[in-house]
Amino acid sequence: MAWQGVERRADGSPEWSGASTGASSGAAGEPLAEGGVAAMEIEAESMPNQRATGATATRHGEVILDLQHISLAFGGVKALTDISFDVREHEIRAIIGPNGAGKSSMLNVINGVYHPQQGRIVFRGEERRRMNPTAAARQGIARTFQNIALFKGMTVLDNIMTGRNTRFRSGLLANALWWGPARNEEIAHRRKVEEVIDFLEIQSIRKTPVGRLPYGLQKRVELARALAAEPSLLLLDEPMAGMNVEEKQDMCRFILDVNQQFGTTIVLIEHDMGVVMDISDRVVVLDYGKKIGDGTPEQVKSNPEVIRAYLGASH
Ligand SMILES: Nc1ncnc2c1ncn2[C@@H]1O[C@H](COP(=O)(O)OP(=O)(O)OP(=O)(O)O)[C@@H](O)[C@H]1O
Ligand SMILES: [Mg+2]
Repeated sequence: MAWQGVERRADGSPEWSGASTGASSGAAGEPLAEGGVAAMEIEAESMPNQRATGATATRHGEVILDLQHISLAFGGVKALTDISFDVREHEIRAIIGPNGAGKSSMLNVINGVYHPQQGRIVFRGEERRRMNPTAAARQGIARTFQNIALFKGMTVLDNIMTGRNTRFRSGLLANALWWGPARNEEIAHRRKVEEVIDFLEIQSIRKTPVGRLPYGLQKRVELARALAAEPSLLLLDEPMAGMNVEEKQDMCRFILDVNQQFGTTIVLIEHDMGVVMDISDRVVVLDYGKKIGDGTPEQVKSNPEVIRAYLGASH
């Protein structure tokens, strides 16, 4: 299976170029169970790294999210142990690691689903204490899920509209009566949703129930719902898992477009090392709940501990 690398044009927009191997997908487009392992070996020799150039170094802004010494356990299971890393404004920050490494747990800590037993989380200069996902959403953090979380019986349009929930201001009564401000507000929300639909090129399916869509498109709808919240920090948990090459290319392009056009900061969990090396600014590597690497894609790729952990996992 060939993977098309993505490059940035001078204006910063992505452009697909030359084939490289390495996608961690099988023939049927399914991710390999040990996705990072196979991909890391292949990518090390063949993957051109567009992000390691000087052009991208200047893209990083201030630190907006600082995770310090985070530890999280479920009973006796240590999901995260003493993890520290930061996220800078406007960057694409990847989290990689083998299955069970703690990647999704980390996202769940960031958006307040899980509360770590130890550590500090500083978001935009303020330490957060026991924030729940709704509060996180109000602060501009949106996410997609590893297992698609959409209302399968509802249309694409209505699903995306749910992404606006935290932005509704009118009261329940005004909304129920479709009265004055509530009406104007809903029109504004619908306009925003239509913008997102245009942006992600899903006009033709806007009235289709989500459950009837192929998996790849459902993933795109989930991204749309997250974007409808107009997040400043977008958390993506394996947005390309289970996609075929073409769908991955599209998703990659959209992620880069979101990052470039809206300046959205993105934290991305992804098993496909071709994608990670192509589109991330910095990568943090987890293994058994511990951080074993952190740096640019180039640095991470040549980090002996990272290589050892990945190679070790395949034996
Ligand atoms: N709600 C939970 N209750 C108990 N254990 C959990 C829970 N969530 C995660 N874990 C455990 O924490 C560890 C890390 O899981 P996590 O889902 O964060 O890994 P991951 O890196 O996202 O893996 P994958 O690549 O398979 O998605 C695993 O041992 C998992 O079983
Ligand atoms: Mg996960």
